Amino acid sequence: MNREDKGEEEEEIVCLESFFINNDYQLTTFTFGSQVLQLFCLQSASTDFDLTGQLVWPGAMLMNDYISKNAELLQGSSIVELGSGVGITGILCSRFCSEVVLTDHNDEVLKILKKNIDLHTSMENPSCKAGLGVEKLEWGNSDQINQILQKYTGGFDLILGADICFQQSSIPPLFDTVEQFLRIREKGQCKFILAYVSRAKMMDTMVIREAARHGMLINEIPGTCSVVGNLQGVIFEITLE
Ligand SMILES: C[S@@+](CC[C@H](N)C(=O)[O-])C[C@H]1O[C@@H](n2cnc3c(N)ncnc32)[C@H](O)[C@@H]1O
Repeated sequence: MNREDKGEEEEEIVCLESFFINNDYQLTTFTFGSQVLQLFCLQSASTDFDLTGQLVWPGAMLMNDYISKNAELLQGSSIVELGSGVGITGILCSRFCSEVVLTDHNDEVLKILKKNIDLHTSMENPSCKAGLGVEKLEWGNSDQINQILQKYTGGFDLILGADICFQQSSIPPLFDTVEQFLRIREKGQCKFILAYVSRAKMMDTMVIREAARHGMLINEIPGTCSVVGNLQGVIFEITLE
């Protein structure tokens, strides 16, 4: 149907993906205790598509505060982060760990994540001690998980996730992924640290249920319950039963 044939009918507006994508990243400074970190991020979200990872979420603030106060827990460890977004958590970890692998599923988010990692590595930053890697990982995608595990054969000491529980359909594959990483190691040799921000009762219940369904124990880390961005947040330590 051409424009004239459409007559009174409403014309269909075709928008390209790029129409919705805001790439106006700003170099922003964040402070967590004694740790000061600069990275590129948006100040507000793009209007469409799954671009939540272009900005820093309250769960990352909670996680990074916890990390800066408990840096000794990360000393020399290897980490895989799920849903890294702009990389604020993984990049902070690189100051204390030996190996950090940041992951995300969104190609647009992976671009800004790589740019932030380049910023930190190319500055010959003496505070950055770890090997920093980036991998594409969609939760539940076993091929991508296996590719990561072929590269990092010993698995990881810690799996980190900051503010990654916001969409119900992604919770079962998220826990499938966590289970795959946890089971690479002997029981007790790998933990999932989740900075959780409560936005819906349904999600609170789902996270607990999925952990149990995957044979995991979920415990609140004492002293981590706090208000972040007007919401209740907590850090969970999740291990195999
Ligand atoms: C709310 S943002 C949090 C980003 C960052 N961790 C923070 O706290 O600032 C959620 C992140 O998870 C990623 N994500 C969402 N669903 C995913 C999935 N199914 N597989 C992998 N990553 C996903 C998004 O691309 C985004 O970067």
